[in-house]
Amino acid sequence: MTDTPTVDSSNTDQFRSWDGGGGTFWTEYSGRFDEGMAGYHGELLAAADIQPDSVTLDIGCGSGQVTRDAARAAPEGSALGVDLSSPLLDLARTLAAKDQLTNATFVQADAQVHDLGEARFDVAVSRHGTMFFGDRLAAFANIARAIRPGGRFVQLTWQALDRNEGISTFRTIASGGRELPPPPPEAPTPFSMSDPDRVHRLMREAGFADVELTSLTVPMYYGRDVDDAFDFIAGNFASSFDQLADAARSRALDALKVNIAEHLTDRGVLYDAAHWLIHARRT
Ligand SMILES: C[S@@+](CC[C@H](N)C(=O)[O-])C[C@H]1O[C@@H](n2cnc3c(N)ncnc32)[C@H](O)[C@@H]1O
Repeated sequence: MTDTPTVDSSNTDQFRSWDGGGGTFWTEYSGRFDEGMAGYHGELLAAADIQPDSVTLDIGCGSGQVTRDAARAAPEGSALGVDLSSPLLDLARTLAAKDQLTNATFVQADAQVHDLGEARFDVAVSRHGTMFFGDRLAAFANIARAIRPGGRFVQLTWQALDRNEGISTFRTIASGGRELPPPPPEAPTPFSMSDPDRVHRLMREAGFADVELTSLTVPMYYGRDVDDAFDFIAGNFASSFDQLADAARSRALDALKVNIAEHLTDRGVLYDAAHWLIHARRT
């Protein structure tokens, strides 16, 4: 049995979700997320430029594909994955053990407040794991402290909602066809790192320099066929579909299936997507 981690009050809701039902869902679909990220993963690793002796920190590591690849690239170094979610971390540990990556370790912790040490890491990486902090400045300052001066921080985050066809389409359909306002920029949502000016300001204030955002636009994979993608997307947006009355929910689920069918290609179900690769150096 593991101890409950110390979680900042601004991250309590995220902890409940990722350590609860959200984490269970993404544990079931962790392979699907890895497949969805496949067009971005190589770029993230190339930017991280992990050396054979690098000591790497993976923020919000989830089921740990990035942590494992960082550990593999550094046989004389190590990689530590930090995450809020016990189900995802259980899977991360199992997958690392299966690959005999003894230099990959994982800890359940809130990266915003956990003592990550001082100047302990050569590089920090994160694939979609830095968008959910309740207090982003505190979190990034904590991460900065853990990276050695001159060390690097490389993140992959979503660009704005309207540049991401999949999520914006699913969100509208799951709300019964209503156009919802974009999420507030300060809220801990997948889009909290989508505004380049905010990212530059935040990173500078937290102790980073040479901040660069590179736009990557690779379609994202959602499933091998319509039914496969439908199960995944309907599950991911279940809490929105569940708020609709029965008839509206059934119409919305039908609309989702039609939309998915329109995105079926010979490489599976694909939707346009846009990410930022954010590169920064610890001052
Ligand atoms: C979209 S998932 C990405 C997981 C993983 N990086 C990957 O690419 O497979 C976001 C992850 O961030 C983690 N997370 C959110 N807030 C966090 C926090 N304050 N501290 C540590 N991890 C956090 C969640 O538990 C979740 O596993």
